[in-house]
Amino acid sequence: MNLTPDLTPEMKVTVGDLMNFLDESPTGAFAVESIRKRLLSNSFTELTEQNRWKLALGDRFFVQRGDAGLCTGIVGTLPVDQTGFRMIGAHTDSPGFRVKADDVYEKAGYVQLGVEIYGGPLLASWTDRDLSLAGKILLKKNGKLESRLWKSDKTLLRIPQVALHMNRAVNDDGLKLDKQNHLPPILALADEKPFTMRRLQKYIASEIGVTVEEIAGLELEVFDTQKAAFLGLNDDLFVSGRIDNLAMCHAAISALTSLPANPESTVLVSLFDAEEVGSTTMNGGASSFLDNCAERIAISGRLNREDYLVALSKSILISADAAHAVHPNYTDLYEPHHQNALNRGPVIKINAMKKYATTTDSSFWFEDCCRKAGVPFQKYIHRTDKVCGSTIGPIASTNLGVQAVDVGNAILSMHSIRETAGACDPWYMTQAMKAAMM
Ligand code: CO
Repeated sequence: MNLTPDLTPEMKVTVGDLMNFLDESPTGAFAVESIRKRLLSNSFTELTEQNRWKLALGDRFFVQRGDAGLCTGIVGTLPVDQTGFRMIGAHTDSPGFRVKADDVYEKAGYVQLGVEIYGGPLLASWTDRDLSLAGKILLKKNGKLESRLWKSDKTLLRIPQVALHMNRAVNDDGLKLDKQNHLPPILALADEKPFTMRRLQKYIASEIGVTVEEIAGLELEVFDTQKAAFLGLNDDLFVSGRIDNLAMCHAAISALTSLPANPESTVLVSLFDAEEVGSTTMNGGASSFLDNCAERIAISGRLNREDYLVALSKSILISADAAHAVHPNYTDLYEPHHQNALNRGPVIKINAMKKYATTTDSSFWFEDCCRKAGVPFQKYIHRTDKVCGSTIGPIASTNLGVQAVDVGNAILSMHSIRETAGACDPWYMTQAMKAAMM
């Protein structure tokens, strides 16, 4: 096989669509919002957890839990206790910064925001970049609560590095950032009027067309305003924030929406929140979300609890999350016999300590899906002398008692504000997932 396959027109369409999705999804809730639109325009109907589900064979549905959790699927033509569920799990959240509640203050002539770290971002990558705010605005209108997603089109924030002249050792010692004191971004220069949270609320109120009195709460995140872009002489790379893990959400949803009508097996895609902080929220990988959705499908197909357990025992879960591509300047940090390349297809992740859920059987099953789809695949194993990261795979597999395989596309600079990935891989993963659903 050609080592660097050319970006075919269909691959270019897939990665272009992914890049648009990344740009319109500065937060997990925005990603879910964008996916809802995609599903609605592909004849999926919305269910809610508050109402009873009535599903018929071939029905396409989705259900949201919280702001950044969504489960969607298609009811197969065969009963689930015969086929089991074909499930894909991925996460909508990404490492970054959350604005501390009511924490705007003046210091040395600047207006700054207090920020908390969410997950494990590469902190230095967030300095000296054009940042802004996005998030959820809780409103109380006519006695009723409602929420809006808001994203600033204006660059509002910056975390400036200190000049080299104040930190002469930086290029030898690396940039050391004190998490409490060195990360608060600048929002404005102070003026004669004291800057309170109300001033920021007023700005947001005018942006979304409400009165400041109607704002009942803010949940704001910091994001990079730079759009996703192709990279390299041959456009065979692309760069963006949040490729971990919105690229896998996109691949799973693209595979699902491109399935032929009436698949035999019931297919489920579960997009979880909170993976970067341990998955223990009501819509995280450790929650009942996927289990509840699967069981309710079984119930609506008139199956009983035992039938549901039979169905689970025949099911498989693909846990899809970003994988590590070998970095040319640090090849010695990677297991020498498992160095994964960009544009060489899905990576199957294996770990003896079970940080990944992959088994020999589930690996072979996914390899077969790749073969059926005609896409290459590779295998990742972490160096024995380094601590391996983990995914929702082991957590969801443990809770559901289903076989699982951990896969993902290789990327560089995982958890950087701007990650680098291969432009062919989104198409490869989408095709492999599609084969896994059929
Ligand atoms: Co991830």
